[in-house]
Amino acid sequence: MGAVIVGTGSCLPDRVLSNHDLEEIVETNDEWIRSRTGISTRRISSRGEETFRLASVAAERALEMAGIRADELDLIIVATMSSHMSMPSCACFVQKELGASRAFAYDINAACSGFLYGLDLVDKYLCADREKKILLIGAETLSSRTNWKDRNTCILFGDGAGAVVMEYRDTSRGVVASNLFSDGNLWNLLYMHSAPSCNPDLTQPDNPGTHILMEGREVFKYAVKAMQSAIVELLAREKLDIASIDLMIPHQANIRILNKLVSRLGIAQEKVFINVQKYGNTSAASIPIALDEANREGRLKPDDVLLVCSFGGGFTWGATLLRW
Ligand code: ACO
Repeated sequence: MGAVIVGTGSCLPDRVLSNHDLEEIVETNDEWIRSRTGISTRRISSRGEETFRLASVAAERALEMAGIRADELDLIIVATMSSHMSMPSCACFVQKELGASRAFAYDINAACSGFLYGLDLVDKYLCADREKKILLIGAETLSSRTNWKDRNTCILFGDGAGAVVMEYRDTSRGVVASNLFSDGNLWNLLYMHSAPSCNPDLTQPDNPGTHILMEGREVFKYAVKAMQSAIVELLAREKLDIASIDLMIPHQANIRILNKLVSRLGIAQEKVFINVQKYGNTSAASIPIALDEANREGRLKPDDVLLVCSFGGGFTWGATLLRW
């Protein structure tokens, strides 16, 4: 049928930043953060825990589960918007770290939806060339892109990486279908400038540096509506109803977005995997980290129908169905 996940892995930095720690940094409190976002702690990278290093450890764990050596890989894709360099790509650093000598490697950026877009890409690669072995990673160190003086944003994000190894298998398992969207008209509700330009003609006077900026309430409204409609459309297209979903792994943005989405879809709460309380919003890394946790906890059984969905800057959003 198509692209099957044969190994999962994840890696979180050791350092835990609690809501109480944040009370020392900005004017906020544990009760406000927990009630508005569901987040209690997040992981923050220290020196030597750049995005590619978290990504490489997650990848090693996924390769080990898959029983595949790094030098057997044909392609490495990293979904990220927080690589420590603009060039080379994060994926090239991962290739070097792993010693994946045969693989070509590149990054994609679809903000929080990067991993979902990557799944679709890998599915298409594998349907075109069934012999390939592909590593897909979502990895972020958003702590390096956070304005630690802005309490509207700095409480939300965390660092981490998740990885999957994918191969073509002639079974009914694998990626079933995706329903992906972007709307660049809404870029200014959630964005991050590039580094200031060296070309004076291209300098943007209002560039405040590489920080995430956000209209939280607007993002909230669009996120719920957009994910709901992508899911409803996808299920209808595949002639499935919400009761046929065994596990839903949404992008872990914040608990109120997730609760609203879950209640609108009418999916049973126990079928929804949530770990936002521990890691905050890790952007492109959130789905593969959750997927790895669910897998290692034994929450995924062969032939289970899995629904993943996301929403992020761009705006970018979508939903994907997989048969495990
Ligand atoms: N601690 C204490 N008070 C705060 C904090 C804070 N960290 N941040 C804001 N406040 C205050 C505000 O200043 C405001 O005070 P005021 O009434 O005196 O002006 C009050 O709390 C309410 O502020 P709002 O912004 O209206 O709070 P809201 O209920 O909308 O919650 C939040 C803010 C949590 C950001 C919410 O809008 C949200 O969840 N938005 C979605 C954003 C998101 O998830 N973005 C991630 C990227 S996109 C994605 O992954 C889907």
